[in-house]
Formats: sequence, C-alpha cells, structure tokens
Amino acid sequence: MDPRYVALLVAGLLVLTCKTWALVEVSMEDRVEVFLNKQASIPCVYHMKEKAMIIKWYKKLPGDGSKVLFIIEGELREINDKDYTGRISYTHSYNSSKSQGSIVLTIDKVQLSDEAEIICIVQDNTLKNQDEGHTQLQVFNPPSFPAILGTDRGISVDEELSMVANCKVDNVYPRPNITWYKGTFPLQSSKDVKIIDRVTRNPSGLFTLYSDLHLNVVREDEHAEFYCEVNYFTPGEKRMMESDKINIEVFYPTTEVTMWVNPPKKLLKEGDTMEIGCKGNGNPQPIFTIYNNKNEVSSENELVVFKEVKRSDTGKYMCEILNFDTGTVFEGSIDIMIHYLDEIVVTPEKRVLDQGEDLTLTCNALASLSTHTEWYKDGVHVLEGHVLKSHNASSNTEGTYLCKVTVVSLPELQKQTSLHINVRANPKITEEIVVSPRNKGDHSFNLTCFAQGYPIPNITWQINDLQTGEPLNESSVEYHEKGVGVLSIISVKADSEFTANCTAFNELGITSRSRYVTTFDQGPTTTTATHTKGITVPPKQHQKGGSGVVIAVVIICLLLLAILGSFLYFLYKKGRLPCGRSGKQDFTKENANKDETGMKSGKSEEAVLLQGVNGDKKSPTE
Ligand SMILES: *[C@@H]1O[C@H](CO)[C@@H](O)[C@H](O)[C@H]1NC(C)=O
Ligand SMILES: *[C@@H]1O[C@H](CO)[C@@H](O)[C@H](O)[C@H]1NC(C)=O
Ligand SMILES: *[C@@H]1O[C@H](CO)[C@@H](O)[C@H](O)[C@H]1NC(C)=O
Ligand SMILES: *[C@@H]1O[C@H](CO)[C@@H](O)[C@H](O)[C@H]1NC(C)=O
Ligand SMILES: *[C@@H]1O[C@H](CO)[C@@H](O)[C@H](O)[C@H]1NC(C)=O
Ligand SMILES: *[C@@H]1O[C@H](CO)[C@@H](O)[C@H](O)[C@H]1NC(C)=O
Ligand SMILES: *[C@@H]1O[C@H](CO)[C@@H](O)[C@H](O)[C@H]1NC(C)=O
Repeated sequence: MDPRYVALLVAGLLVLTCKTWALVEVSMEDRVEVFLNKQASIPCVYHMKEKAMIIKWYKKLPGDGSKVLFIIEGELREINDKDYTGRISYTHSYNSSKSQGSIVLTIDKVQLSDEAEIICIVQDNTLKNQDEGHTQLQVFNPPSFPAILGTDRGISVDEELSMVANCKVDNVYPRPNITWYKGTFPLQSSKDVKIIDRVTRNPSGLFTLYSDLHLNVVREDEHAEFYCEVNYFTPGEKRMMESDKINIEVFYPTTEVTMWVNPPKKLLKEGDTMEIGCKGNGNPQPIFTIYNNKNEVSSENELVVFKEVKRSDTGKYMCEILNFDTGTVFEGSIDIMIHYLDEIVVTPEKRVLDQGEDLTLTCNALASLSTHTEWYKDGVHVLEGHVLKSHNASSNTEGTYLCKVTVVSLPELQKQTSLHINVRANPKITEEIVVSPRNKGDHSFNLTCFAQGYPIPNITWQINDLQTGEPLNESSVEYHEKGVGVLSIISVKADSEFTANCTAFNELGITSRSRYVTTFDQGPTTTTATHTKGITVPPKQHQKGGSGVVIAVVIICLLLLAILGSFLYFLYKKGRLPCGRSGKQDFTKENANKDETGMKSGKSEEAVLLQGVNGDKKSPTE
C-alpha cells in the first residue's frame, strides 16, 4: 500500500474521531415558515460541556451568498442590523445534566426582507472549537381574491387568438401560479390557447400577478364558463382560490334563416293582427329583408306587423340576408293563409207566402274553410244544415228566421242574418174592443181595436150615437203596427151610450167587431160579425162594475126592506126590484142578443137607478 494513501486514511480517521468527539454540536430546523407581520421563532440547540459564552447569528443574503453578522452574544449582546431594532428577542438556557444549551431567536413583525438563511454559530469557551446550524426563514402573504374581467365586446369566431379575459391577484408572496379553466377543464397554452402572465413587485416586495387568456373562439364558447384559479403557498400548505365565472359573447355568422308568425300555431282570419319575423342561427342577428310574393315589405327590420289582415295578405313571405364577406344569400320562407267568411246570402228573396205554399230557404256564405250552418226560428234552434224546408205554409210558418254560419275550425269566424217570413192571411180581430175609462175633462173615451192578418189590415171605425142615431166623429186616430197585426186607438167624445164598430180589411177579406158603450160604464156589450165567414160570435161578458156601488145598492135595498116590511118583501120575492150583485148583469142576460133599440131601453132603466145612487153621474170605477 502506498504510504501516501495510508497517511490520508489516518488523517481521515483522525478527522472522523475529532468530529465524533466534537466538543460543540449545533442543530437547527431546516425551515421556519411564517406569515408576513407575524412572529418567527428560530431555535438553535447545542451540546457542550458548559454553557456557551459566544454565539454568532449570521444571515446569508440571497444572490452572492455573503454572510452578514447581525447578533453576537458574548459578554454583551449586541445587534448589528438596524432592520431588527426593537423586533428581536432572545432566550438562552442551559441544562447541565443534559449538557444541552437552547437558544430561541424571536423576530416580531416579520418583513419580506427578513427572508434569508439564518446561521447560528456556537463556539466553546476556548474559542478553538465551534459548530454551526442553518435555518431557512420563509415568509408568506396570501393573495387578494382573484379578480376576473371578461372582454366587453363580442368575439368573432373568425378572429385569431383574441383576448377573452384577464385575471389579477394582488399582494401575494411568494409568487403564485394562475391557472385558467373553461368549464371544468384547465387550459394550457397550445395552438388555440395563449396565456400571458405578467408580474410586478411593489416596493415592499409583494407580487401582483396578471394573466391574460387569449383564445381562438369557437361557437360552443358562447355557453362556456371561464374562470381563473390562483395557487399559492402558506406556512405548511399549498392553497387555491377560484375567481368568479364569466361568459363571453361569441359572434358567428348566420347560415340558416327561419321565419316565424305571431300568433303561432293559430289559424289567422281577416281582421287579425299578424306579426311575422325572421331569425338567423348566427350571433348577432343579421339585417333581414322581408318580401311578400317578391315585393319588399320591410328591410332592416326583423319584425313586420300587419294590422287587420285581409285575404289578399295570403301568400308566401320570405326573409333574406346577405353575408357581405362571402356574398352568400340565405333565405327562409313561410306560407301565410288568411281565412275569411263572406256575408251570408239567403235565397230566394221572396218573403211573403200564400197559405199552403211550400218554403225552401237556402243559406250560403263563401268561406276559405268548411262551415257549419244552423237555422233558428224565433230564437229556437230548428235545423242544422243550410237548406230549410217547410211545407203547407200557415200562420205557424210565420216568424223571424235566423241563419248562422260558423267556420268549424275557426269559430270566431261567424256570421248571421235574419229575415221575416209572412203568410198571407185574412184579417182577424181576436180580442174585444178595449174601452178606456172616460176622460174627466172632455168626456172622451179611448177605444182600442187590434187586428191581425197579412198584408197588415187597415182598420176603420164606425161610431153611432144611440140617442141621436147620428154617427160620431173620432177626434184622434193612432195606428201602431205590431208584428203581423195593427193596433188602432181612437178617441171619441160622447154624452150618451153609443156603439163602436171596428172593421179590419186587407186584400184577402174583411172582418168587424162592435161594442156597446154607455157613458157610465165601459161594460162589455159587444157584437162580432165576421163577414168573410158569416159567423156571429156571441159577445163575451166583462164584469167591471165597482164594488162600492154594489154595496151602496145593497144597503139601500136592506133599508127599503126594513121600512116597507112584508109588502115589499112580497114584491122582492116576485123579483121586480133590481136588487142584487148587479142590475147590469140581469140586463145583459135578458138583452144579449136583442137589437139596438132593446139595448137602449134596458140601459136607460139601469142608468136612472145608478144616477139616483151616485147623484153626480160619476162612472162606477171612480
Ligand atoms: C435537564 O434535563 C433533565 C433530563 O432531561 C431534566 O430532568 C431536567 O429537568 C432538566 N433541567 C432543567 C433546568 O431544565
Ligand atoms: C407553480 O408552477 C411551478 C411550475 O409548474 C411549480 O413548480 C410551482 O410549485 C407552482 N407554484 C404553486 C404555488 O403552485
Ligand atoms: C195544409 O194545412 C191545412 C191547414 O192546417 C190542412 O187543412 C191541409 O190538409 C194541409 N194540406 C196538406 C197537403 O198537408
Ligand atoms: C186616450 O188616448 C190619448 C192619446 O193616445 C191619451 O193622451 C189619453 O191619455 C188616453 N185617455 C185615456 C183615458 O186612456
Ligand atoms: C190603409 O191605411 C193607410 C193609413 O191610413 C192608408 O194610407 C192606406 O191607403 C189604407 N189602405 C187601404 C187599402 O185602404
Ligand atoms: C164629423 O165630420 C164630418 C166631416 O169632417 C163633419 O161634416 C161633421 O159635421 C162632423 N160631425 C160632428 C158631430 O162633429
Ligand atoms: C160594422 O160595420 C160594417 C161596415 O160598415 C158592417 O158591415 C157591419 O155589419 C157592422 N158590424 C156590426 C156588428 O154592426
């Protein structure tokens, strides 16, 4: 063996032995991590036979690696570095049973400038032996919440790598990383993605990080959510924060045009308001030109309103756009149908029928869709279908007919028309002549006669004064047509009883009805003669006598009975006295079918008696 090697080996062994038996041994933690402005405690532990007299603290500057002595513990402890003034405290203890010394250096309000490799050097009291320990002091400051800002303009899919969003975090140490996400996927720089980060440091040494995201935008990006995530270190762990999520507006060209109509899915009819418009599948919507049967109805407008549409608005509507870049024309179209229902026409025009005639009415209305027709007679539904047939016309056939036409699939489209059918008929007077109470002022009576028939009959009156035998003139005449009849009202001045004869006639015949009227009572004495048929209807009886008069007559009768005794009783039994409910009744029974003279005489008898009761000739109802 080469003596040189032996010497080296011996020397090495010696060094090893010296180290193992070293008189001073120092140990420190590798790292001490602390938040900015908090307190850092840096322990330095040594093994030595006695308490160390001299301890030196160095800090190793980043960069050239030069060491700066900042604390010496000797006979007196001194702090060299002004930066630490007032911020450093220091404990030193020694356990002789363990031969172990323990020093803790505490730095308050840790600054970024405090971040360094700290070296603790312990010397034995002979100053011949020493050992040193190293600790990396690491300072942290968490970032502000990451602020994201999307571009406020729409980005075209044609643009290359345009900036989509920007993300910023403030006041962070050490430098963090920013990661971009689209949906759940992290984005990495590639052909279609470019991420540009910028960092600035403020005077205190904290970082501000900016990250710009540039993309080749595609159509699908209009629904994508973008956000940024910041990853940063804190004492003992790595953390992350996510920014808000943003959307971007993507511009892409229209390649397909569709048209819509409002109201949708509904049949349109004349008079409706219709809106039609266009929609492209691009963003933003392009400028459309709208045509109707090749006539331009609107340009630079995606919506056209048609008020009160007509059937002539039916047709094909088209929408056109021109892509200026490619010169391509895209178009869409829609077929519009405006439905209608024309006025109803009823045939034949003839509205007057003869008795026994057949009637066929046809109701038609032109419509763009199938219709449903109904007939009503005097408000009652009689038929579904457009032809109404009726045989053997009679008075029952007369009435107001209504034809209603409805478009089946569009019930709002409905029209109706009504017409009146008359059937020729002889005049008829079915009711008594009505006599009003006598007018107090001029002693006149109003007489009313109602006659039916078609054509509407005319009415004439004939009034005969029964005392003088002279005809009386009516002072006023009124006519009121009512349906298929006519009402005639006349006013007659009379001082004694009279007969009123109402005659109704039309081209088919004549009929009359008469009534006897006293000046005291409008009691019912009438005679009807229907000349066309030659039948005389017996007059009906009307009981209109006042009960007051009846009671008075009864009282008088009772008085007479009481005074005159049995003689009068005998007379009464024979029925000679007009005592009872109404003398008039007896009279009418006796004279119902007698001639006018008979009536006259019977009447005067009654009139005298009633006059005696009432004195002042008042009518019984008054
Ligand atoms: C010194 O260390 C021993 C053994 O660990 C322990 O029992 C003793 O309490 C310590 N003395 C002091 C003053 O800390
Ligand atoms: C940032 O990214 C670098 C490189 O990927 C990595 O080494 C570092 O640990 C990251 N920092 C954080 C705070 O995540
Ligand atoms: C027509 O009606 C009249 C009166 O109702 C009736 O007498 C006659 O028999 C009817 N004629 C026919 C053909 O039905
Ligand atoms: C009679 O008819 C006239 C005119 O219609 C009317 O003014 C008057 O009140 C009527 N008299 C009676 C008593 O009804
Ligand atoms: C019916 O009466 C009206 C009104 O008074 C009259 O104009 C008409 O000529 C009369 N008709 C006949 C047929 O007398
Ligand atoms: C009735 O009228 C006719 C014609 O207007 C007239 O000549 C006659 O004098 C009148 N009679 C009475 C009683 O007023
Ligand atoms: C009523 O007058 C008409 C025409 O003047 C006549 O023919 C008829 O007999 C009269 N009727 C009565 C009941 O007096």
